[in-house]
Amino acid sequence: MANQVFEAVRTVLAIRAYQDRPVPDEVITRIVEAGRLSASSLNLQPWHFVVVRDREGLRALGRLVSTGPYTAQAAFAIVAAYERSSPYGVSDVSRAIQTMILTAWAEGVGSNWTGFGGLEEVREHVGLDPRYEVLAVVPFGYPAGRVGLGRKNRRPIGEVVSAERAGTPFGE
Ligand SMILES: Cc1cc2nc3c(=O)[nH]c(=O)nc-3n(C[C@H](O)[C@H](O)[C@H](O)COP(=O)(O)O)c2cc1C
Repeated sequence: MANQVFEAVRTVLAIRAYQDRPVPDEVITRIVEAGRLSASSLNLQPWHFVVVRDREGLRALGRLVSTGPYTAQAAFAIVAAYERSSPYGVSDVSRAIQTMILTAWAEGVGSNWTGFGGLEEVREHVGLDPRYEVLAVVPFGYPAGRVGLGRKNRRPIGEVVSAERAGTPFGE
């Protein structure tokens, strides 16, 4: 039987253009549930996720994250934040973001990570307490245009994986 998790990992791509079509609420709920259910160091769950569906709110996020203006056209976006006091916050919320991206992909919903911290205006815009740092804004939507499934540009396995000791080729 095919490994559906691996299929999602193998085929997921950064999606930066979306259809003008809403994502059903139950799908959105599954995506945020995937974030909530993610593991975190000491199970502290030092995160908060703000789901933005309102078009004006999405436009504002597109303006506030200079590397993700396309959020303005997304069906929804998730503002992913972590508690600044947590030494593991970046790892924890990053893991949750990836889990949400893969869960969305398995539902046919594309997404992408935009921004990397320092998003104070986003934090204020969504009303998050200053004890949180916004790590990323993740826009979601059904991909516009055809998606080249599995066509990834990655370094070869021999370059990034070793067996037993670095430098020893990892073979099959
Ligand atoms: C930590 C992180 C930050 C990223 N930031 C941005 C960003 O600000 N804007 C953007 O368009 N893409 C961003 N990306 C997406 C990457 O550019 C993209 O995943 C990468 O080029 C590989 O493309 P692929 O996912 O389609 O294979 C980010 C990805 C990661 C993991």
